[in-house]
Amino acid sequence: MEEQDNKQPPQDLKHRPIKSFVTRPGRMGTGQIKALTELGPKFVLPYKVERIDTAATFGRSAPLVLEIGFGMGAATADIAATLPDHDFIGCEVHEPGVGALLKLIGEREIGNIRIVQHDAVEVLRDMVGEAALDGVHIFFPDPWHKKRHNKRRLIQAPFVANLVRHIKPGGYLHCATDWQPYAEQMLEVLSAEPHLLNTAAGYADKPAYRPLTKFENRGIKLGHGVWDLVFRKR
Ligand SMILES: C[S@@+](CC[C@H](N)C(=O)[O-])C[C@H]1O[C@@H](n2cnc3c(N)ncnc32)[C@H](O)[C@@H]1O
Repeated sequence: MEEQDNKQPPQDLKHRPIKSFVTRPGRMGTGQIKALTELGPKFVLPYKVERIDTAATFGRSAPLVLEIGFGMGAATADIAATLPDHDFIGCEVHEPGVGALLKLIGEREIGNIRIVQHDAVEVLRDMVGEAALDGVHIFFPDPWHKKRHNKRRLIQAPFVANLVRHIKPGGYLHCATDWQPYAEQMLEVLSAEPHLLNTAAGYADKPAYRPLTKFENRGIKLGHGVWDLVFRKR
């Protein structure tokens, strides 16, 4: 009989890829629950292994921007309202955030956002075609401060190499962070990706469409920095 090694994790856990997020239970307000029930069916696209038919989903053909990790969606809603000629797909795993963005969509009657509540890495792989995106927004991704957690950071060379395949030539990748060591990692990784070209000499000025979040405003008053990076696909 074959000897069992009890120290080995079960097969399905052994090759589990490291995720850039942890799913945490979060409290949902009644407004968020109501928005999920009433607006979810229209604005939330179920995750599936099938390309999103954007023409059918949005009822038009328009530049398409993917946002990874929209949090509570305040910036997403502002940007979508500022750029009504663009369509936005937002990925977020945190359900209260999905409820919060749906609430904003309802209150502000925003029609150009759809949400996928799932890991963006898998959404890209399974639902987004090659060269399908005109832009990608990654704002304040979790910095994973501790060195031993750095491997969870989203902006790493293999992820970026895969991401750029989904961006059209001439399309852009816009990242922002308020954690300097992560900004430095972003600059290094994006500059080293051969398909990307920096639009600035180093960090970029904040593009006008990205609103200052409450949290960011507070940070700026305290003298904390924010770094934007805007790269174009060659
Ligand atoms: C620090 S928050 C920032 C949220 C928002 N962008 C902002 O500026 O306020 C990062 C968010 O990214 C989400 N996130 C991290 N990795 C993700 C992934 N692979 N797919 C989808 N969402 C992800 C987390 O759930 C979290 O809500």
